[in-house]
Amino acid sequence: MARLRFPDGFHWGAATASYQIEGGWNEDGKGESIWDRFAHAPGNVKNGEHGDVACDTYHRFAEDVAIAKELGLTSYRFSIAWPRIQPSGRGVVNPKGLDFYRALVDALLDAGIRPFPTLYHWDLPQALEDAGGWPERDLAGRFADYAEGVTRALGDRVSDWMVFNEPNVFTACGYLMGIHAPGRRSLPDFLRAVHTVNRAHGLAFHAMKAVRGDLRIGTAFSFTDCQPACDNDADASAAGRWHRFVNEMFIGPTLRGAYPDVFREGGAPLEAMDVREGDLAEVRAALDFVGVNLYTRTLIEDAPEDANLGARPALPFGGNEGAKTDFGWEVWPEALYNVLVWLARDFDNPVLEITENGCSYGDGPDADGVVRDTRRIDFYRGYLEAVHRAIGDGADVRGYHAWSLLDNFEWAEGYEQRFGLVWVDPQTRDRTIKESGRWYAQVAAENGVDG
Ligand code: FCB
Repeated sequence: MARLRFPDGFHWGAATASYQIEGGWNEDGKGESIWDRFAHAPGNVKNGEHGDVACDTYHRFAEDVAIAKELGLTSYRFSIAWPRIQPSGRGVVNPKGLDFYRALVDALLDAGIRPFPTLYHWDLPQALEDAGGWPERDLAGRFADYAEGVTRALGDRVSDWMVFNEPNVFTACGYLMGIHAPGRRSLPDFLRAVHTVNRAHGLAFHAMKAVRGDLRIGTAFSFTDCQPACDNDADASAAGRWHRFVNEMFIGPTLRGAYPDVFREGGAPLEAMDVREGDLAEVRAALDFVGVNLYTRTLIEDAPEDANLGARPALPFGGNEGAKTDFGWEVWPEALYNVLVWLARDFDNPVLEITENGCSYGDGPDADGVVRDTRRIDFYRGYLEAVHRAIGDGADVRGYHAWSLLDNFEWAEGYEQRFGLVWVDPQTRDRTIKESGRWYAQVAAENGVDG
């Protein structure tokens, strides 16, 4: 018997995303995405790698579903590539693109696994970037149109949906820092993108509900636990501002109908974001659940030279007390506990789904072919204990999705960082369940974690 039991009906799942696993980048009428363009340009991704073939899931999805079934998963989070559905981001739907996702969904349903799709995990049709991308106000309506089309096509068999994956990450990395597609570095573009994405989110949510009122719709937000770097008032208030900036710029307007106060003096850059009369009513959406992606904490220090936000992370990817994954991210389970109880407290106890949590370790097959990734097991055990504790303290968590089912294309890092419960051979792309995968299967079978 498991020591820590989870509530009955708790979903044990794994997560993936289209560009990171599918490959088939130009097959069956798929249009070019911003990630195709970005990864094909030299210098953007480590070792010149790209997702042209990736895990070849476009051709091998039945194997992936069989593995998920073998692991006893009850939920599978994947994403739908917009340019497979609308190759140029607008107009007629490409039937072959839809066929792929219909076949995947049907295979999952046959295997007794909940299909749990995300409509946008970063692969914008390149044609829409050419027309201005997320900073362009009109993109909100285009996105709602796509969302409605997909819901009409799959809403008869998919009941639980996520609109976006990590809106704060793709706007900041893509438009402010330029380290992800489309590789732009502009504060004004970033600020406008934030507001277009929030409007797109609200419009899509309502368009989907108009197709079927009983769908359960949420979004997978990226959260981090912001803590003051030093024990003083300046860092404590900086941590508060950074928390509102990084954690609340999307969920805030969605659930509360207002942008959070991010500036030292209060307020938010509403003019620079091009927030217009009536917009916030469009953005507001009573999500059926809040998706939580979380990896580690962030230590924040006061930044006196910055008159606006006046805060910055003291270190990248966590602090310096916990162990580090091979990606250098600090292992800090308490961050997940803190974020879950914060959401329960500040947002009126919403239904929560952990939509991503996981770790990169490079362990590969030993001479006998077994992948003994015990550090990944330790990671999951620690974070699952934190989830269990948060549930005990009142957080209404209904499911957990390990990132990721498969080793896959980790954006600008290429294939070096391996997050999978399943090893993917770089040459053959053959899949081998790691020891962590076997351990996770046991957790799912017992609906709980042993000590
Ligand atoms: C998240 C992304 C996901 C994956 C993990 C490691 O930010 O949503 O696609 O890359 O990080």
